[in-house]
Amino acid sequence: MRNPRAFLRPLAVGAPAPVADVPFRPSRMIHFFDPSNEKMRSKVPDIAAKVDIILGNLEDAIKTENKEAARLGLVEVARATDFGDTQLWVRVNSLDSPWVLDDLITLVTEIGEKLDVVMVPKVEGAQDIHYVDRLLAQLEARAGLTRPILVHAILETAEGVTNVEEIAAASPRMQGISLGPADLAASRRMKTTRVGGGHPGYLVRQDPTGDDLTTGRTTYQQDLWHYTIARMVDACAGNDILPFYGPFGDIKDVVACEDQFRNAFLLGCVGAWSLHPVQIDIAKRVFSPDPADVAHAKEVVEAMGDGSGAVMINGKMEDDASCKQCIVMLDLAKALAE
Ligand code: GLV
Ligand code: MG
Repeated sequence: MRNPRAFLRPLAVGAPAPVADVPFRPSRMIHFFDPSNEKMRSKVPDIAAKVDIILGNLEDAIKTENKEAARLGLVEVARATDFGDTQLWVRVNSLDSPWVLDDLITLVTEIGEKLDVVMVPKVEGAQDIHYVDRLLAQLEARAGLTRPILVHAILETAEGVTNVEEIAAASPRMQGISLGPADLAASRRMKTTRVGGGHPGYLVRQDPTGDDLTTGRTTYQQDLWHYTIARMVDACAGNDILPFYGPFGDIKDVVACEDQFRNAFLLGCVGAWSLHPVQIDIAKRVFSPDPADVAHAKEVVEAMGDGSGAVMINGKMEDDASCKQCIVMLDLAKALAE
């Protein structure tokens, strides 16, 4: 069950392929829905056919009085739906809430055989994963489940970021980690009021040109999440689990959403959350390697032969290391095509 991202590891050329205990499953978007909402539940079969992962959300954005209805709604829709190859996930309530114990007991007992991953919010250290791990083991044994349910952590507190390496390594159940920019911004006391994405005030100003010091300067918005995504990607890569960008709340701004998703993809993330159907196609496009990049990668790998030495292609030097990057790209394209 380990090693969901083993295929992403650049191999020394000639080394035996790593044996992944679970086959890679496409994970370009984690599509959130509110299971307490009957209308949303009725759309689940259609949406599930379009996405890699569908997730019933029980935590933030679900009102307190709807917590139980959401839990039971998820049981109802999971029982009634054939998810095919699409993964079914749940985001349970946080470990300091009064609801999480019932979330885990009910869902593992009632729909454990259909549930692929439990997403745990506000994870602060390895102890949080250990707690969920032991509880899942007990509940799985009681329900007679033979396939382990995996665990995904949301990185959304300053303490969690500090401990991201131990979180990634905390259990063989760890499937991956998502950046949670909204809670993380609050925990860090950032001065933003958004759900993910950039900020027009966080920018780089181009040097003034000529004598005009007040106008004629171009500004470029920076990626507010660069540092955390990079840390999370390193922690995940070092433990063979999958990193994800989280939510992008400005549903209408599809351009900025695509930019944020692409920054995350280029930094190593395999997917992002989709909060609205419009974000499904964006994630599918962004987190699937560009055909032009795949064609270039193929050319490099073929030209490099046994993968050692250096070749010139279109005026650019390619060597063992760029060949490894190309293999990462080709492996992902192949895995998504299967
Ligand atoms: C997600 O849960 C976030 O806080 O951004
Ligand atoms: Mg959050």
